[in-house]
Amino acid sequence: MTQLQPARILRVDPVWMREHLREVLEIYGAAMGYPDSVVDARYGHAASHTTRIGFEAVAAFDPADVLTGFGYGYTTRPGQWWYDQVADALGRTRSREWLRDTFELSEFHVRPDQQGMGIGRTLLRTLLGGISHPRVVLSTPDSDTRAFRLYRSERFVDLLRGHYFPGDARPFAVLGMTLR
Ligand SMILES: CC(C)(COP(=O)(O)OP(=O)(O)OC[C@H]1O[C@@H](n2cnc3c(N)ncnc32)[C@H](O)[C@@H]1OP(=O)(O)O)[C@@H](O)C(=O)NCCC(=O)NCCS
Repeated sequence: MTQLQPARILRVDPVWMREHLREVLEIYGAAMGYPDSVVDARYGHAASHTTRIGFEAVAAFDPADVLTGFGYGYTTRPGQWWYDQVADALGRTRSREWLRDTFELSEFHVRPDQQGMGIGRTLLRTLLGGISHPRVVLSTPDSDTRAFRLYRSERFVDLLRGHYFPGDARPFAVLGMTLR
């Protein structure tokens, strides 16, 4: 009888991320259902993310050492597109409360054929367990997705619901969690 082997989850550094960005973005495209053109256009952004202050990343591998999932983020800061959008919508007081010295979970994806097996939760916990920021924030499509259920079950709270980012017709939720 074959036994299901657990995924190997590792913290990875910015150099590893840059060297494996093709594989990483393939998972991003497959998990999000994006066409190759969207994935290709993401390459420059993703590479620049690895140079941001506070960058931290995790990766999951199957028993054959094939990448099955990843997550990364960095310190959210004024001047970054996401920060500026969210700070504007939160207003000054809540931005001060939630966006100072805060880790932004920027990308987090598991290969579709490996989803629902606990890899995502372990990736998330490993990533957040290794950062020194007192808070984490993220945005996710505002609907009943696996990602949303996972964040909720990890005790993320609503910062914004039904928020629209420029250039995207979908409503998003911005969620946050205090870590310490
Ligand atoms: C979100 C994502 C990274 C989670 O990874 P995953 O490996 O599928 O997650 P897990 O197997 O650890 O499941 C975590 C939780 O999601 C929910 N979930 C998982 N599979 C589910 C299913 N088939 N039906 C309903 N809920 C499910 C459950 O709450 C589950 O926790 P539990 O099984 O302990 O109750 C992954 O599903 C993914 O890549 N999704 C598409 C891309 C995406 O939305 N990324 C996040 C963008 S913000």
